[in-house]
Amino acid sequence: MKKIGVFTSGGDAPGMNAAIRAVVRSCVYYGITPVGIKRGYDGMIRGDFENLGPRSVSNIIQQGGTMLKSARSKEFMTEEGMERAYQNVYRNGVDGLVAIGGNGTLTGAHLFQERHGVPVVGIPATIDNDLIGTDFTLGYDTATNYVVEAIDVIRNTASSHNRLFFIEVMGRHAGFIALRSAIAAGAEATLIPEKDTPIDELVGILEEGLHNNKSSSLVIVAEAGESGRTFKIAEAVQERFQYYDTKVTILGHLQRGGSPTCFDRVFASRLGVAAVEALLAGKSDIMIGREAKVITYNPLSEVLGKEKPIDDELIRVSKILAI
Ligand code: F6P
Repeated sequence: MKKIGVFTSGGDAPGMNAAIRAVVRSCVYYGITPVGIKRGYDGMIRGDFENLGPRSVSNIIQQGGTMLKSARSKEFMTEEGMERAYQNVYRNGVDGLVAIGGNGTLTGAHLFQERHGVPVVGIPATIDNDLIGTDFTLGYDTATNYVVEAIDVIRNTASSHNRLFFIEVMGRHAGFIALRSAIAAGAEATLIPEKDTPIDELVGILEEGLHNNKSSSLVIVAEAGESGRTFKIAEAVQERFQYYDTKVTILGHLQRGGSPTCFDRVFASRLGVAAVEALLAGKSDIMIGREAKVITYNPLSEVLGKEKPIDDELIRVSKILAI
């Protein structure tokens, strides 16, 4: 193996830059030429390749976003798009790929290696933490830390005015961001797509809080891929429970950028080194992860399309502590 291509695709996540840096520098360490592919599969189709070196990735470990840029490419999922991408990989002499991204990115990587035989290793990077085969995905720790900071700020104003706040966080099909940040910020209730919480139950929780002398309440809602979901829930609750003045805050993309935490930087560094070493050891079609502190190498076919279970113990803890 003489050249390894690296790209980021799908929604950006803090720590992607640290992972790119780790891949590039590990390549150089092992005498391999690292090649950056811009805008994910889109750049692969258009031939946007660039040789990188250790100095190309200086001063990026602390930056959110991705220096290679990102995109969601529908074209890549067509036979012609994938063929064009393969021609460019071949023409540029790239012998192996490191794909950094979430479920969509890794699905593309799996299909590409299956169809064209190019060795591919995936690094799980999405703030949603919705991939199995790894306890954390890259960016999740950073995103939840920003979310907690925002909730803390909202808590100040909520308690000053005796208000009920519904705070919507990201998580297209998953409640990991919502549940973790709700525990860390001491929220009264959490609504996640994995568990149905009827409005009656939610109103019951809020009434109980009032009974227990709470002067304000915070409900964390996972967006669950449904636009307007939180406004609808807030309206339904307001109709039944009028004690508090009710407000809605959507955190949106504020939670997806920003400087990565120490955890995500170290995690990205370990994943990047492991990805290059895996390719050099002849591994392919796998996702590098970390389970119980150990770096893992799971076949992509065993990771993709499966729902990561939410930790029931965290739900229990959050309920006990919300009294
Ligand atoms: O996959 C990460 C994520 O941030 C989801 O939580 C969210 O639903 C989605 O991306 C938003 O994507 P976009 O920024 O492309 O609208």
